[in-house]
Parts: sequence; structure tokens; C-alpha cells
Amino acid sequence: MGRSILVTGGAGFIGSHLVDLLLERPDTAVTVLDKLTYAGSRRNLAPHERNPRFRFVLGDVADPGVVEPLVRAADRGVHAAAESFVDRSIEDSKVFVESNVLGTQVVLEACRESDTPLLFVSTDEVYGAGQPEGVFEEDDPLLPRNPYAASKAGADLLCRSYWITYRLAVTIVRGTNTFGPRQHPEKAIPTFIVSALRGRPIPVYGDGSHRREWLYVRDFVRAVATVMDEGEPGGVYNIGGGFELSNLELARRICEAVGAPESLITFVPDRPGHDVRYGLGWERLSALGWRPAVPFSDGLATTVAWYRDNLSWVEEVVSEGRS
Ligand SMILES: NC(=O)c1ccc[n+]([C@@H]2O[C@H](COP(=O)([O-])OP(=O)(O)OC[C@H]3O[C@@H](n4cnc5c(N)ncnc54)[C@H](O)[C@@H]3O)[C@@H](O)[C@H]2O)c1
Repeated sequence: MGRSILVTGGAGFIGSHLVDLLLERPDTAVTVLDKLTYAGSRRNLAPHERNPRFRFVLGDVADPGVVEPLVRAADRGVHAAAESFVDRSIEDSKVFVESNVLGTQVVLEACRESDTPLLFVSTDEVYGAGQPEGVFEEDDPLLPRNPYAASKAGADLLCRSYWITYRLAVTIVRGTNTFGPRQHPEKAIPTFIVSALRGRPIPVYGDGSHRREWLYVRDFVRAVATVMDEGEPGGVYNIGGGFELSNLELARRICEAVGAPESLITFVPDRPGHDVRYGLGWERLSALGWRPAVPFSDGLATTVAWYRDNLSWVEEVVSEGRS
């Protein structure tokens, strides 16, 4: 029997790669609900626009009138829509609460009414700052330290409460940093690549010692699909398995991949409350059979090639965000 999946935030970076993966399954139909904020673009879904198994709906996840009929019509939901950039949340957190917390409550309530299983895409940032060594496990406390992370933690805990209170089949994935084609140019790896390609200063926060684990987006969405197919209802799964390096090492690797001089690397004032590192244990996900398949250097080479070929996409996305 075919399956119909509602993907919120499907016009964004991770969402659009998830749509690519799901539509490779011949029995699966996908409906995307997306508000097309500055971070979302129909361009990211262009290859699917003529596919009869694909449908796009423009709307806000915080609007029950839009969400309820779409959830009712779906066999399951993947909730990836969110305001996703930490720096913007530090400037103004209101829309983060509206989209990430209230939006998740609306999606959960619609799922409860129609008993539709839901997978929520959460983030490692909900754990707060990690130690220089060690990893977060799924049962560790949520101690977010910036408004974005706090809004995701609020949504994550609401998901948990709907499983415990109503036995709604919600699964949660908490993902590490992801990179790949079509990521909004405000995020670290695209910023570094685009700056390097244009011969402009590559801005690195603080002294560049903050460490992040990077997972290629195709591996990330394969992990989401694995949890959707095999995860326990009520289960929480870290998506780790990324390649860890400091932001300065990352900038150097990008200079090398682009063929740009390291003298472009420029240190800029640190982000307030900048978490030094996260680090995720992912034994639960591994027990479901998932492994990362794309080595960091291969993913980076593909990503650099994509931005080199798509600088017009970058310009269009940035100019749309200004309008
Ligand atoms: N990028 C990462 O490294 C990473 C890591 C872990 C988890 N996540 C989570 O994965 C999800 C996707 O992240 P991303 O990097 O693709 O983000 P993104 O900013 O590229 O995409 C977010 C999408 O959600 C849409 N959206 C925002 N508010 C909405 C609303 N109120 N109603 C409907 N649509 C709305 C945007 O238009 C956009 O298409 C987010 O929930 C994020 O918290 C991201």
C-alpha cells in the first residue's frame, strides 16, 4: 500500500533533501507544508514540481486551519519546519517561539485528533554545551543556552508530553550539524564556501576553537527515514556520526577545497553564549541499522562544487530574504 507523508518545512535545506529521498520510493506521496520564510524556496523542490506524487502547500505550521486537513489526509508526518538560525534568535526570539513552539503544538494537536504518527526533527543544541570530551545520550537533561535551542527544547518536550499523556506515536530525532547543497548562505559552511569562492574574508567566531560535528545532509535524511521506518513510538534518537573539527580547522579545510588562501580567514567577535561543542552518542540509531555513508571530505567536495555552480541560487536566496 502506498504511503502519504506530510513534510513540514520541506522547502528548506534538510526538508528538501528529505523530500528527494522519500520520492525515490515509488509507493510514497509527499505533501510539503511550508511558509516560505527567507530560508525556504520553491527552487529547492523544482525537480518534483511535475511529479503527481508531490504537492506543495503554502502555509504556516502555527495555523490549525491549514495544518489539520493536511495531517488528516496523511499517513504520517515529519515536522521539520522551524526558524533555524541561532544568530537570528539572539536578535529577536519571538518568531522562534511562534513557529517552533506554537507551531509544534498545532502540529501535535492535529496529529492527536487524527491519530497520525509524527516524527519531530530536533537538534543536539537542546542538550546545551557539551564538555571538551564525551557525548550526550538521549536521556540526558535538556539544558539549552540560546533562544533557538530553547524553542527547539520546548517543542521537543511537547512531543514527549504528547507521547506520555495521549500515547500519540511521536518519535524524535536530535541531529548534529548538517551540511550540503541548498543550505541557506547565512549558515557556517555556506558562508565560508561562498566567501572563499568570492575571495572575501571568511568570518570565524572568536578564536575558532569551538568544535562541531558535521554530517552530510544525505546521511542526515537517511537517518530521519530510518527512524521513521524503524524507530519505536515515543523513542528519541540522536543523529550523530558526524566528523568533528574546530571552526578554524573547518575554515582551513574549506580554503583547501576551494583553492583559496588561508589569509582570507578573519576572526570576528564571538556569538554570545556560543556552545563550545556538542558531541552525540548514536548507539540507538546504529541499532536500527543506520551508518553514515559519505566521508566528510567527499561531502565537502560535493558541496563546494554545488555552490561554485550555483552562485546565482545564493544571490537569489539572499535577495529574496531582503524583500
Ligand atoms: N541544519 C542543521 O544543521 C540542523 C541540525 C539539527 C536539526 N535541525 C532541524 O532541522 C529542521 C530543518 O533545518 P534546516 O537547516 O533545513 O532549516 P531551514 O531554515 O533551511 O528550513 C526551515 C524551513 O521551515 C520553513 N518554515 C519556517 N517557519 C515556518 C512556519 N511557521 N510554517 C511553515 N514553514 C516554516 C522555512 O520556510 C524553511 O523552508 C529544523 O527543525 C532544525 O531545527 C537542523
